[in-house]
Amino acid sequence: MRRRTTLTSIDVGTTKVCTTIADVDEWGGIRVIGVGVAPSSGLHKGLVVNINDAKESIHESVKKAEQASDYKVESAYVGVTGRHITSMNNRGVVAITRNDRLVRSDDLRRVLASAQSVKVPSDRKMLHVIPRGYAIDGQVGVRNPVGMHGFRLDVETHIITAATASVQNLVKCIRSIGVDIDDLVLEPLASSAAVLTEDEKQVGVILADIGGGTTDIAVFKEGSIWHTSILPVAGYQLTRDVAIGLGLPFDVAEEMKKRYGSVMPVYEGKTETTSPISEDGHGISYQDLCDIIRARVEEIIRLILLELPRSEYETLVPAGLVLTGGSANLSGIEALGRDILHLPVRVGTPTHMHGITDILRDPAYATSVGLLLWGAKHEGNGLWQSRGFGMRLRHLVFRIKNLFHQ
Ligand SMILES: Nc1ncnc2c1ncn2[C@@H]1O[C@H](COP(=O)(O)OP(=O)(O)OP(=O)(O)O)[C@@H](O)[C@H]1O
Ligand SMILES: [Mg+2]
Repeated sequence: MRRRTTLTSIDVGTTKVCTTIADVDEWGGIRVIGVGVAPSSGLHKGLVVNINDAKESIHESVKKAEQASDYKVESAYVGVTGRHITSMNNRGVVAITRNDRLVRSDDLRRVLASAQSVKVPSDRKMLHVIPRGYAIDGQVGVRNPVGMHGFRLDVETHIITAATASVQNLVKCIRSIGVDIDDLVLEPLASSAAVLTEDEKQVGVILADIGGGTTDIAVFKEGSIWHTSILPVAGYQLTRDVAIGLGLPFDVAEEMKKRYGSVMPVYEGKTETTSPISEDGHGISYQDLCDIIRARVEEIIRLILLELPRSEYETLVPAGLVLTGGSANLSGIEALGRDILHLPVRVGTPTHMHGITDILRDPAYATSVGLLLWGAKHEGNGLWQSRGFGMRLRHLVFRIKNLFHQ
């Protein structure tokens, strides 16, 4: 398939919707030509709870990006998150029966289809089936088996499923503004594409995107995805704790958190640890603010570790933890992470891009940039895309039928 030169991503987050339009070169590099950010409404913990409100926010963000780039968005890569996401690892196996015993790309398709033959409840849909590694006649660790000889081909896959209704609500919002879906991508996979290095993925690393409503987790080992999960707790809960704990309106608490908040408070220039700080006529103690934030962030980091299916994480993820998402901007979060994990911890900011990128060089935009990188790499291969094509075809037939009935 010929690569398209311009791709669009829409990250429908709990606090903001971000549409990004970029030109893609033949090596998968991206040059951003337009970004549109709008505050989001109608979303809760990553899920659409009010279709009209969500649609408005998405429309505003798409319009802004279109104006900035002078490009009309027809379809987009869209991020999916929420507690309804589940993941599992599953094996597929096929025999190579041809005389030459040579593995061809058709065998890869067959073995992936065999891995997909797990029972998925009718109210769920497969979002991704990602090959983690192949084995030929029991020899494991094969990255690309095409062209190798063997009798039996095994594949180890990571399968991600989502609740059909939740996905459909999001798809409905986006289609209703005249934008088609290129593919639906699990948000932590997108964020990983933007901020993780190949080395980290090889050695073993946890990616945690701490956004507004959800903390999205992806674990990589030996170069491929090993585990994914979504926690329904993030920056919104931090602000709520501050608001309740210090008796502040939510907006003031949000501002205080972003402006002064730290999980490793620094008392430079302050004579007492309880120096007051004020915002909008509300005065509070710096130490109280930081104590509240620190307690919740510590809890989130411990919850991230609990999500791992194995407790001995030191051997599973020696490259440690990469934090991204808007809440990774919290001052001191890396140091706190290192104290808890005793492993490397860093903040991941998207960097692999050119063009109008100023706003995107912030951890809050890891998903947006990652969706574009994912799109550039997987153009034409998405699970959703193949079904989407069927949908588009049906729409076309429907429209043609309507023409004849007018
Ligand atoms: N400097 C900062 N210090 C602390 N928190 C911050 C800072 N900047 C942004 N945040 C927090 O980041 C959160 C928003 O992050 P992000 O934009 O990644 O979320 P989202 O993508 O809209 O939501 P989600 O991915 O959870 O659906 C908000 O809770 C905001 O308070
Ligand atoms: Mg997000």
